[in-house]
Amino acid sequence: MDRRQFFASGLAGIGAAALAGNAGAMKFYPMPSDKKWAVLYATWCGSTRDAAAWISEGMGGIADVFDVRENPDLSAFTHIVIGGGIRMAAVSGELQDYLRKHRDVLKPRIAGLFAVCGNMGRPVGPEQKETLIDAHLAKLSGAALVPSHVFLGRVTKSLMDPETAKMMAAFDDYDNLKRPECMAFGAEVLAGIKK
Ligand SMILES: Cc1cc2nc3c(=O)[nH]c(=O)nc-3n(C[C@H](O)[C@H](O)[C@H](O)COP(=O)(O)O)c2cc1C
Repeated sequence: MDRRQFFASGLAGIGAAALAGNAGAMKFYPMPSDKKWAVLYATWCGSTRDAAAWISEGMGGIADVFDVRENPDLSAFTHIVIGGGIRMAAVSGELQDYLRKHRDVLKPRIAGLFAVCGNMGRPVGPEQKETLIDAHLAKLSGAALVPSHVFLGRVTKSLMDPETAKMMAAFDDYDNLKRPECMAFGAEVLAGIKK
């Protein structure tokens, strides 16, 4: 196969994968899996995307990871973990709309909830779990009592739209998201289902 053929067949392969459905999920399976786990996230600047991927890694990489903006059909998944970045004490409008619209599909499948916030750089405690998970994400999604976690995230002003970046001008960038913490939560959620 020459170089041109190689690239042409590669592109055809990518096209076929895109048509196969769930095309937007981050596909990465270091371990064999029946692929029945999904992590759904909503992000503005990417820290919640990274948390979602690391939560899947904590499960041995078995979960498909979806951005809510892909509007995925999650009805084929058995267990779903849902999380959102926080602005003005709430997850994005896209995630709120998605949770309301797909509540019947999601509700019986939700295995874990998480939020990623700034909390002014202070450690998170029961108050953040109460306001961001119990009174917000759990209510929106209709989830039963499932494992949940609030992570500290990041501020990266270069990734914000100009208006938001201006609003945040007085604050320095920070990165408080911890991969081991995300992986530990993934392992906790998985263990809860295996029991
Ligand atoms: C405009 C704006 C509003 C925010 N509002 C809150 C808030 O109400 N509470 C909070 O704890 N963190 C708040 N944060 C911090 C974010 O939750 C934090 O940066 C998080 O990592 C963002 O997630 P993302 O990178 O997935 O978009 C805010 C950040 C921005 C830029």
